Amino acid sequence: MKITTKINLITTTWIICVLIAVNAVVFFSFMKITVNMEDDELLQKASVLIKELNKETSAAGTKENLTPYLANHSYIRVINPDSKIVNQVTNDPPMAAKIKAEFAAKKGTDRLTIRLKNKEEQIGIVRVPIQKNGQVVGTLEFGKKLAGLELGKDLLLSILAFCTVLGAVLSLLGGRWLSNLIMRPISNMINTMEDIEQSGIPKKIDIQLETKDELQKLAVTFNRMIGRLERNLENQKQFISDASHELKTPLTVIKSYADLLLRRGLQNEAVAHDAIESIHSEATRIQKMTERFLDLADTESGNLLETKKINLVSLCENIGKQLQAAYKRMIDLHVNEASITVVADEVKLKQAIIILIDNAIKYSMDKVDVYLEDSEIGTSIIVKDYGIGVPEGELENIFERFYRVDKARSRETGGTGLGLAIAKNIIKQHQGEIKIRSTEGVGTEAELFLPKRK
Ligand SMILES: Nc1ncnc2c1ncn2[C@@H]1O[C@H](COP(=O)(O)OP(=O)(O)OP(=O)(O)O)[C@@H](O)[C@H]1O
Ligand SMILES: [Mg+2]
Repeated sequence: MKITTKINLITTTWIICVLIAVNAVVFFSFMKITVNMEDDELLQKASVLIKELNKETSAAGTKENLTPYLANHSYIRVINPDSKIVNQVTNDPPMAAKIKAEFAAKKGTDRLTIRLKNKEEQIGIVRVPIQKNGQVVGTLEFGKKLAGLELGKDLLLSILAFCTVLGAVLSLLGGRWLSNLIMRPISNMINTMEDIEQSGIPKKIDIQLETKDELQKLAVTFNRMIGRLERNLENQKQFISDASHELKTPLTVIKSYADLLLRRGLQNEAVAHDAIESIHSEATRIQKMTERFLDLADTESGNLLETKKINLVSLCENIGKQLQAAYKRMIDLHVNEASITVVADEVKLKQAIIILIDNAIKYSMDKVDVYLEDSEIGTSIIVKDYGIGVPEGELENIFERFYRVDKARSRETGGTGLGLAIAKNIIKQHQGEIKIRSTEGVGTEAELFLPKRK
């Protein structure tokens, strides 16, 4: 069942129940008040008449005494202690005949339902004792057809029934309008989602009204999510295009040397040697590049870090020793403390530090200085070189994937342009910061900052 139908049915049923309950209260209150009013009127008449009868010598009075008190469709009778009628006046004899005379020593009211001409009639009766010399000698009985009550009851019932039906219809229409109002943005969202499902292309919901309610919040959140998805997709597309472009050059080189080998290489040993060497070097470059792709994918995937307490001093000492041996370059570690503890993912942090030192080695000829600075708010690892530096306008670009300041030179050094992008991701995962200060021709200072973890 559609949610709009459900809302409609529930609200209408509820409103009908409320109307029925209210109507019942109104109806029964009306009946009670009307009957009480009729009884009061009869009692009042009876007490006036009693006063008159008390003046008479005979307790039964005369017809002349009683007649002026007759109302429409009523009777007045005097009953003796044996429940016999001793005097009666009526303008509705069939009605009076249906009601049995009853002696009552106490004042009281009664109501009877009798059948007259195949119709049920309500009769209101009051009985008041007649006293002579302090003794009850008879009962004055007033009976009256409650015609007003019947009429009022029927009228009220029809009004209440009409109001209930009108209420139900209005609630049905109102419910439909309300559920449509609520469902319109939801239907809009469902349509957009179905479009996305069918086309596979992220699409935003068209928010027409600034309602500032939960539904608008839902749509805005959905659009934000779609925006992120769009950016991610765009990013992915860009990466695939950049990566293919980067792989194209070494693959073209490999292919052309392989062609050369096929054509002439086997006859000429020198050509064959050159070709194999170039193929080897380009294949190594591709290998390094694919390793970098995987590292980048790993740092972008949002995988959890395997953090633990690390002694940064010994970690940097080890890295320094390894790189010094591999590149035959001087790497100086400057640190005042014997040990600095940081909470980090050791493998990833090591990777980020190596990326910075590797850059310093690649883009300078002099020694490389590494400074470790620990403070209350965090720890900095600063890698300083005295090399070619980065031109001022390029500083903001060098963290972008595949960006290299000097493409030709980077090919010589084997750079892929992914190192700093990977390092930035790693430090971001550690809630840290990476900053590069550089002066072209003077040198570069790269700083990794790791905030203290609680
Ligand atoms: N210390 C530095 N001195 C001068 N230029 C630098 C330095 N560090 C980075 N750069 C410039 O920033 C670019 C991007 O650096 P990044 O480390 O991301 O890539 P790469 O070194 O070219 O390749 P990879 O690190 O993936 O082997 C480099 O190509 C280089 O032009
Ligand atoms: Mg690099």
